[in-house]
Amino acid sequence: MELKLCLMGLGNVGRELIQLIERKRDEVQAQYDLSFKIVGIATGRHGILIDPNGIDHAAALDGHWADRAWPSTEENRLKMIRECGADAGASALVEMSPINRETGRPALDYLELALNSGMHAITANKGPVVHGYRHLSALAKQQGKAFLFEATVMDGFPLLNLYRECLPATHVLSFRGVLNSTTNLILTLMEEGKSFEEAVQHTQDIGIAETDPSNDIDGWDAAVKVCVLSNVLLGADIRPQDVDRTGIRAITPEMIKAAQLARHKWRLVCTAEWVDGRLTAKVAPEEVPANDPFFRLYGTTSAIQIKTDTLNQLTLLETAPTPAQTAFGVLADLIAAARGHF
Ligand SMILES: NC(=O)c1ccc[n+]([C@@H]2O[C@H](COP(=O)([O-])OP(=O)(O)OC[C@H]3O[C@@H](n4cnc5c(N)ncnc54)[C@H](OP(=O)(O)O)[C@@H]3O)[C@@H](O)[C@H]2O)c1
Repeated sequence: MELKLCLMGLGNVGRELIQLIERKRDEVQAQYDLSFKIVGIATGRHGILIDPNGIDHAAALDGHWADRAWPSTEENRLKMIRECGADAGASALVEMSPINRETGRPALDYLELALNSGMHAITANKGPVVHGYRHLSALAKQQGKAFLFEATVMDGFPLLNLYRECLPATHVLSFRGVLNSTTNLILTLMEEGKSFEEAVQHTQDIGIAETDPSNDIDGWDAAVKVCVLSNVLLGADIRPQDVDRTGIRAITPEMIKAAQLARHKWRLVCTAEWVDGRLTAKVAPEEVPANDPFFRLYGTTSAIQIKTDTLNQLTLLETAPTPAQTAFGVLADLIAAARGHF
């Protein structure tokens, strides 16, 4: 079977996805009798390209298509979805554009149009999951297509697919996690003696924090992840502003030292649980003792503990996240979609 792909966004994740598809071509073909053909690529500023015969992977990565590209307009992005050839065979929109945490748009519109056009809808972007999970899931069900988003939380780690595939008849009661790797690295660097400012600068120098790092240090990224997980695992319907959110700006070197003396560590902890019929969702720094599993989370490591009514507690630990791992989450979703596992 051949699955045609329309890539919405060709940044870190999109480029890694193309390389992963190339690297795993023979295995995917042998194990699942499946191949991929990229028939459309859209970017924010670097043009939009459609080729029903398939876009050459090396040319896509080199960016040698400017002469054939349509202008980067919103209308053309939607046109790409409509015209990428979904009517002739199986196809998927792979949505990898930047997050809009206030509305989830335009990504939400792209995914909705893809499902309405008979395509599977796969995304690495948390925005449309936070703002459109119920709507897009219902639409996907109605259309008999997949709406999958494994790459949105903990990169490619199989958290959501594990919940979907491996926890039948199970209720998730609560979760607790360290889900933002930038703040965890900042706290680790402060434990090694750096000031808050030096630690933030380091995360910017190595390219994991943005020029404006407030998305991470004020807890917004963590709050968005709490929303994705609360809405999917706990059946809630919350938005980032519903999360009780405190970032790490107020953590001083003195607080770090005091915690170390007590054999404790500061971690930015995300929690959510139902209490008396109301979901409480929180992101806040927590002083964790040495017997807490989060005590040993160094650098960019993330972890989540999920309490269920069948397995009691399940813990997943992710070390050294990379865009290549995020791309694996997308590939896993594409294979699941093609196999009808959704
Ligand atoms: N990096 C990771 O490891 C990671 C992990 C988990 C989730 N994610 C999520 O995955 C998505 C992609 O991340 P990334 O690191 O690849 O981002 P990125 O490097 O910033 O790339 C974003 C891509 O989207 C394009 N774009 C911008 N506006 C667009 C629009 N309106 N429609 C279509 N494309 C548009 C950009 O084009 P131009 O360059 O031409 O502007 C660029 O090709 C984001 O939502 C991110 O939050 C990333």
